[in-house]
Amino acid sequence: MDWGMERRLAQIIPPTTGKAFFLAVDHGYFLGPTRMLERPAETVKDLVPIADALFVTRGVLRHAIPAASAPNVILRISGGNSIVGPTLENETLVVDPEEAIRLGVQAVGVSIFVGSEYEKATLTNLATAVNQYERYGIPVMAVTAVGKELEKRDARYLSLACRIAAELGARVVKTYWCEDFEKVTETCPAPVVIAGGPKTDDAREVFAFVRDGIDRGAIGVNLGRNIWQHYDPVGVASGLRAIIHDGAGVDEAMAMVAPAPAPVG
Ligand code: 5RP
Repeated sequence: MDWGMERRLAQIIPPTTGKAFFLAVDHGYFLGPTRMLERPAETVKDLVPIADALFVTRGVLRHAIPAASAPNVILRISGGNSIVGPTLENETLVVDPEEAIRLGVQAVGVSIFVGSEYEKATLTNLATAVNQYERYGIPVMAVTAVGKELEKRDARYLSLACRIAAELGARVVKTYWCEDFEKVTETCPAPVVIAGGPKTDDAREVFAFVRDGIDRGAIGVNLGRNIWQHYDPVGVASGLRAIIHDGAGVDEAMAMVAPAPAPVG
């Protein structure tokens, strides 16, 4: 592996543990002003030091993240649709490699929609990104997305999608947690990080699927809403960091989260 590629991967996946905590704040690229991400600068400022890297668009990076805070960045480079449009799957590459280099990012991320009408277009996006970015030593993270078809998230489908992503050259694959998660990680030659999952206010539920996913071979997470839509984002992020990097269990992570505020009224 070339030195630049190796260095960037080491920046987002610290070699001390070989694990990674990516904080996802890219949602606005198709959801607009998502709840609690209306003002991204405020949402992320206390979370940046806890995560290993931010998954973010160039717009939010420039407008909301001070360069002086020196976060590691995984730049979202695919997009082109919105939640109110006819489809979420028909993405294209929306960022040139020169822009990623100008921004000094550590990696880029591209969504693929395996099994959708736009399977070929999005897999070609991934392959094109790998061709373009590997040239400059920039790793590509593939995002196995399902659009609105959330029921697709089982081990059979996700292992297929992750394997294809790795075959096309993704250096990291981001996918959903599911039952029997080892079926996904064991058949994917690239490291796997766990994405989102259902939005829940219960941090214990989040810690439980992350602990399970790591025990079954994931190297970490790329999580968003279950952190910054929680009443204690710093507590949840700290608990996740302890699970990912320190081998903490669910109870230890829960001890880092503040008690739920009393209901109003
Ligand atoms: C949105 C994404 C997000 O990065 C991913 O879904 C993780 O965010 P969340 O935990 O909020 O689901 O790729 O397209």
